[in-house]
Amino acid sequence: MAELLGLGCSHGPIILTPPEVWHKSRERIFGRNPNFQAPPQLIEALGDDNGLTQDRLDQQKIVDAFQVMRDRLHEWNPDVLLVIGDDQSENFKQDNLPPFCLYTGSEVDGYPFKNMGGNNNSWDAAANTKFSFICPADFSRDLRNSLIRDGVDMSSSSALTGWEWGLAHAIINPLVYLDPEGKFPLLPLFVNCYGEEAGPDYPPRPTARRCYEVGQAIRRFLDTRTERVAVVASSSWSHSFLAHKFDCSAIDLDTDRRYLELVREGKGSELAKLTPEELQNSGDHEILNWIIALGILGDVPAEIVDVRESHTQLAFRVAALWG
Ligand SMILES: [Fe+2]
Repeated sequence: MAELLGLGCSHGPIILTPPEVWHKSRERIFGRNPNFQAPPQLIEALGDDNGLTQDRLDQQKIVDAFQVMRDRLHEWNPDVLLVIGDDQSENFKQDNLPPFCLYTGSEVDGYPFKNMGGNNNSWDAAANTKFSFICPADFSRDLRNSLIRDGVDMSSSSALTGWEWGLAHAIINPLVYLDPEGKFPLLPLFVNCYGEEAGPDYPPRPTARRCYEVGQAIRRFLDTRTERVAVVASSSWSHSFLAHKFDCSAIDLDTDRRYLELVREGKGSELAKLTPEELQNSGDHEILNWIIALGILGDVPAEIVDVRESHTQLAFRVAALWG
């Protein structure tokens, strides 16, 4: 039987930057949308200092939540750290766009500060700072083989074009908090959460149902193993710039609060019923990462460590633990 620890967190670049510069990403992202209409909650959170007070508060809560999760992870001391995150045209380009891809190499690097411009990160670290991880190649190949024989046509890569960039930000950013030392063997699982949102050349994102089934198939494999596996679901939920029902201008708070209660109560399997249209409308594209994790963990209640709802940080952020 698998011994599992679950962690849910966000990965947006702002988790690595000081709150004093958060307004820049806001302005850049809002500026991309010609139909942008500031929702009243955003105007309120911006206050009279362009959101700095709110940003400082949110940043501290995010850092504190990562500390809680890091402590639990290191105390639990997993044999494998499975991180489920979406690639956003980083490692996966038009030449290869699988719905899911397991990394089967034996090591991997990440450069989380590279695209932030200079030393623009909370640690004032150099832009080319490298984080290195060993990876459980045999375990990963066994998982891939088991999934395929179980009916899930999982792709894999140990030498993907694009690795010179290092790990996609959805994988590497949370690790800056959770395991910057590379203590635990890292197994990245990529998910094409953006799908058609990234452009007409991109295949649709996998369905919530399929993501949940992939999680269940991973669990069937884990139940045959003795390794202790920590499963990290890496993503925010509704993104203001993806919430089509609000003209890509506002986070869908009501919807995400509903999903949060399901996760809290151990009814995560309900999220497998979400339709592609629901995900598209509420901007919850990236919750697919969590739905895979929920398929692995099963319907067990989550301990909600923190919830960030401010429109100033562009997405609904949940920090959670299972087990
Ligand atoms: Fe993301």
